Amino acid sequence: MKSKIIGTGSYLPEQIRTNYDLEQMVDTTHDWIVARTGIEERRIAADDECTSSMATIAAQRALDMAGVAAEDVDLIVMGTITGDYPWPATACIVQANLGAKNAYAYDVSAACSGFLYGLSSANDFLMSGRGKRALVIGAETLSRSIDWTDRNTCVLFGDGAGAVLLEAQEGDSGILSCHLHSDGHYLELLYQPGFGAKNPASIEGFNQKLGFLKMQGNEVFKVAVRSLTEVSKEALAANNYTSADVAQFIPHQANLRILEATTKRLGLTKEQSFVNVNKYGNTSGATIPIAIDEAYHQGLLKEGDLILSAAFGGGFTWASTLIRW
Ligand code: ACO
Repeated sequence: MKSKIIGTGSYLPEQIRTNYDLEQMVDTTHDWIVARTGIEERRIAADDECTSSMATIAAQRALDMAGVAAEDVDLIVMGTITGDYPWPATACIVQANLGAKNAYAYDVSAACSGFLYGLSSANDFLMSGRGKRALVIGAETLSRSIDWTDRNTCVLFGDGAGAVLLEAQEGDSGILSCHLHSDGHYLELLYQPGFGAKNPASIEGFNQKLGFLKMQGNEVFKVAVRSLTEVSKEALAANNYTSADVAQFIPHQANLRILEATTKRLGLTKEQSFVNVNKYGNTSGATIPIAIDEAYHQGLLKEGDLILSAAFGGGFTWASTLIRW
C-alpha cells in the first residue's frame, strides 16, 4: 500500500511583477537579480485574493484532474507561513470553500519545507489507515509579508498555490519515503520577528517593520545547498537508488544558483532538474506543488518514473521525498 498522487493543481495570480517593475521601487537592476537569483518575474496576489482563495483553486484543480468529489477527501494538510489569519488554520477555510465536509484539516508551519512536511504527515495518516484520500497544499501570499523597500529580500519572493491529491492504493507507485529535519539554532537567519506572542502587534513593532520577513541571504545560501544535497542523498540511499535513477528532481525553487549548486553536487544533469523559479520567484511552501503540477502537464512525469523532491527553509527545516510516479 502506498500514497499515490492521483491529481495535481496549481494557481498563480494574474498580476506579474517583473524585475523592471522592481527597478522602479528599489535600488536594483534586472541584470543583478537575474545574475544572483535567476528570477525574471513573480506573481502578486490581487487585493481580493489571499492564501485560502488561491489554495482553494489549486486544490479544486487537483480534485478535478482525479475526478474525485470534495466530500470524498478525508484529510487536508496545508503548508503555509502566510495563512489568512494567525489562527485558525487556513486549511479549515479551504475545507469549507471546497465543501470537503468529511475532511479534517490543519496547517503545517515549516516555511519553505511546509509542503514536504505536509506530504509526509498526510502519508503517515493514510498509511496508518486514518483515511483514504488526502489533499496536500502549499500556498503563500508572501507579497504581504515582504518589505517592498528592502532590496535584499523583495526581489526574491512571489505568491501562488499548488496542491496534490493522494490516494492510498495497492501497488508499487506512490511515496516511497519521506525525510524531515530541523535545527532551531538558525532562527534569526530567516524569520518574521513580529507579530506573534514574542513580539505582539504594536505601533513600535510596526514602525520597526517587525511584521516583515528578515533574512541573512548569504548565510542561508550556504546552509541551503549543503542541506538540500544531504537530504536528497538520504532519500536515494534509503531506497537503494542513485542519482542516475532519477527521472526528475523537483527541488524547492528558492533561486537558480541554489538549484544549480545542489543539482551539480548530486551529479544530476540539467535535464533531470525541474526549474520554474525564473517565472514565479520563491513562493515558499508553494514552489514544489506548483512545480509538480507544471512538470506533470509538460509530460515530464510518466508512470513508473522516479521523482526526487527536496526543500529547505526557515526554522531551519529541510526535507525530501522519493516518489514512484
Ligand atoms: N539589487 C542590487 N544589489 C543588491 C540587491 C539587489 N536586489 N540585494 C542586495 N544587494 C547588494 C548588497 O547590498 C551587497 O552590497 P554591498 O556589497 O555594497 O554591501 C551586495 O549586493 C552583495 O550582497 P550579498 O547579500 O552578499 O549578495 P549575495 O551574492 O549573497 O546574493 C542573495 C544575495 C541573492 C539573497 C543570495 O544570498 C541568496 O540567494 N541567498 C539565499 C536566500 C534565499 O533563497 N532565501 C529564501 C528563503 S530560504 C530558501 O527558500 C532556501
